[in-house]
Amino acid sequence: MAKAEMAKKDKAAMRKEAEELREKIRHHEYLYYVLDAPEISDAAFDRLMERLKEIEAAHPDLVTPGSPTTRVGGTPREGFTTVRHARPMLSLDNAFSYDALRDWDRRVREGSGREDIEYIAEHKFDGLSISLQYEDGVLVRGVTRGDGTTGEDVTPNVKTVRSIPLQMDAAMLKKCKVPGSFEVRGEILMTRKAFEELNRQQEETGGKIFVNARNSAAGSIRVLDPSITAQRKLDFFAYFLYVDGKAPFAKHSESLEALKKLRFRASDDWQLCDGIEEVIKYCESWDTKREKLAYEIDGVVLKVNSTALQNELGFTAKAPRWAIAFKYPARQETTVVNDIIVQVGRTGTLTPVAVLEPVQVGGVTVSRSTLHNMDEIERLGLCIGDTVLIERAGEVIPHVLKVVKEGKSRRAFHMPKKCPVCGSAVHRVEGEVAYRCVNAACPAQRKESILHFAARHAMDIDGLGEKIVDQLVDTGLVKDVADLYSLERKEVAALERMAEKSAQNLLEEIEASKKQPLSRAIYALGIQFVGERTAQLLAENFSSLEELAEASAEELEKVPEVGPKVAASIVDFFSEPANRKVIKKLREAGVRPTAEKRELKSDKFAGKTFVFTGALEHRSREEAGEIVQQHGGKLSGSVSKKTDYVVVGADPGSKYDKAKELGVSILDEAGFEKLLGLK
Ligand code: IVH
Repeated sequence: MAKAEMAKKDKAAMRKEAEELREKIRHHEYLYYVLDAPEISDAAFDRLMERLKEIEAAHPDLVTPGSPTTRVGGTPREGFTTVRHARPMLSLDNAFSYDALRDWDRRVREGSGREDIEYIAEHKFDGLSISLQYEDGVLVRGVTRGDGTTGEDVTPNVKTVRSIPLQMDAAMLKKCKVPGSFEVRGEILMTRKAFEELNRQQEETGGKIFVNARNSAAGSIRVLDPSITAQRKLDFFAYFLYVDGKAPFAKHSESLEALKKLRFRASDDWQLCDGIEEVIKYCESWDTKREKLAYEIDGVVLKVNSTALQNELGFTAKAPRWAIAFKYPARQETTVVNDIIVQVGRTGTLTPVAVLEPVQVGGVTVSRSTLHNMDEIERLGLCIGDTVLIERAGEVIPHVLKVVKEGKSRRAFHMPKKCPVCGSAVHRVEGEVAYRCVNAACPAQRKESILHFAARHAMDIDGLGEKIVDQLVDTGLVKDVADLYSLERKEVAALERMAEKSAQNLLEEIEASKKQPLSRAIYALGIQFVGERTAQLLAENFSSLEELAEASAEELEKVPEVGPKVAASIVDFFSEPANRKVIKKLREAGVRPTAEKRELKSDKFAGKTFVFTGALEHRSREEAGEIVQQHGGKLSGSVSKKTDYVVVGADPGSKYDKAKELGVSILDEAGFEKLLGLK
C-alpha cells in the first residue's frame, strides 16, 4: 500500500474508533451521572477517555464540538460576556401558605373561564437557573439567568457538569419530534453529599466555607476558571424545553418526558393534579419526604399543564400567571451561642462547635452547630454569648449564617493550646487553617479512625458504632484498628449494650472484613486526602499495604491523579512508626489485602515505568500493560522525566512528542518484545 493510502486508511479507522469511543463514553456518563447506575469501573471509564484523548491529540481535525473530551479544558477568562436571552427568564411569584395557593387557583380559573384545570406539581430545586442552548444537537451555550433579560455566558463551566449532555442522539431527537436546535432550562445544583464533602475539603485546605448547597453551586458556576467548576460535583435538573422560544408540546408533562428521553436529568417526582386540593396534598407529602432527597428543594413549582391554557393566561410584568412557587417555610431560626467547644477528628483536626441554646428548626431541636474552623469564626465575627441566625437544610448539621446581635457580655473564643481530649500540644501547620493535635495516639483520633476503618465504604464492619467504639477505646481493649482482630468473645460480650449473640455477630463481621479488597483497606486507613477514588487508583498500582508503605513520593506521583500534596500525605502517614506498626499488626492478624493480584512472572521490569501510546499490532495496550505488571513493572498514564520507556504504536498521541522532548527511551512494539525477551 502506498504511504498516503495507508495514512488515509489509518485516518478512517481512527475516525471510526473515535466515534465509537465517544458513543461509549456518552453512554457511561449517562449511566453514571444521570441514572446513578454505573456499569463499569472508574478506571475502565478513564481508559476510554484516555484513548479518545490520544486519538484527538494525534488528529486534531477529528475533534468534534460535542466530544466528551471538551468537557474540561477551557482556560480561565478575564470576565464574563453578557448574553441576551431569546426569551426572558422570568421568575415566579411565591406563595407562602396554602391559602395563597387557593387564591392563585381562583385567579387561574377566573382568568381562563374554566373550572377543570390540570396542574402539574414539580420540585422546586434550590440551585441557580441556567439556559442551555443546543444547535444541530450540540450544546453551544450555557447562560445564567442574570437579571432575567441578560445573563452571563458560562459555557465552559457548564460543559464540565457531567449530567449535562454535550451532544444529542439524532435518532432520539427525531423520535421525540424535537429539532436539533432547542433550549433547555433547568437548575444547576449540588447534592447535600457533594456540598458537605466540599466544605469538609475547604475546612482542611482553608478555602471558603459555603453557607449552603445553593450558594456553593452558584459559586462554582460563576467562576472564571472552569477547572474549578470541574472539581465541584455539580448536577443539573432540566424543567423546561423550548423550541423557537415556545413550548413544543401540548402539555408541559410531555416536555418533561421528552427531556428524560433525551437523556437529561429530570426529576421523576412530578405529579399531575386535578385541582388545587390535590396540589396541596402533594406539597404536604413532600414537606416531610424532602429531607430524604439527595438534594435540597425549597418548595414546589406549580404550572398549568396545558400549553394552550398557559398562552391564554400569559404573563404579568415579571412572572407568568400560569405558574407559581409554593415555598416551604425557611428552616432558619435565631438562638444564642452559649459556648464554643472543640472536637478532635480522625486526622487530629480540631473543629470548633457552637453549643446553642436549644431551638426548634423545622420540627427538630437543634443544640449544636459546626463552625468549621477558626477562619470561619473570624469571618462571622462570632463571640460566645452572641445571638446568631442558623439554618438547617435537611439532615445536614445546621450552619451559622450570621451574628444578628452581639451578646452583652460576649467573650472571644480562642483555639486551645492543648488538645481537649488528651492534653497534647496543638499545632497550626504553616499555610493551613486547621489546628491539629500532634498526638497520633490521642483517644479522640483513635475513636474516629476506628469508626472510619469500620465504615460502610471502608472495611464495612456492621455493628461497630460509636457507642461500642467508645467503650472499646476507653477500656483499653482497642488501641488501634489492628486490635479489633484480636478481640475475644468474652471481652466483647462484657461491654454495655452487648448481648452474647450481638458479640458473636460483631466478631463475625470483623472476621469477614479480612477479605475486603486492597482498595478498601487503603481507604480504611484514613490517610488524609486519600478518598475512595484515590484508594482505588493506588490499589491498581501497588499490590499490598506493605508495598504502598514503602513507596516514595516520586513513585506515588506516578499514579494517575496523585499530586504532590496527596503523595506527601501518604509518605507522612507511613513514616509515622505507630502507623507502620498497625500495618504489621494487621498483617499478623490475617488482614493481608491484595490487589486482584496478578501472578508475577519475573521481576525483569521491577522499578521501571512504562507508558504506552498509539495502537499496537499484536496486542491491545491493556494487554501490554498487564504484561509489564506481570514482570514487576509499573504503568503510567503520562510521560515525565521519571518514565523509563515509552512504547509507541501506530498513530501515537502527544505522549510520543513529550517522550522525544524529554529524551525518554522510545520503543516500538518489536523493541518492547525484545526487551521482554520474546524476540
Ligand atoms: S419554572 C417562568 N420549574 O425557581 C417559569 N423553576 O422562583 C420559570 N426553579 O427561576 C421557572 N425548580 O430557578 C421552574 N421545577 C422548576 C423549578 C424552578 C426550581 C427555580 C428557577 C426559577 C425560580 C423561580
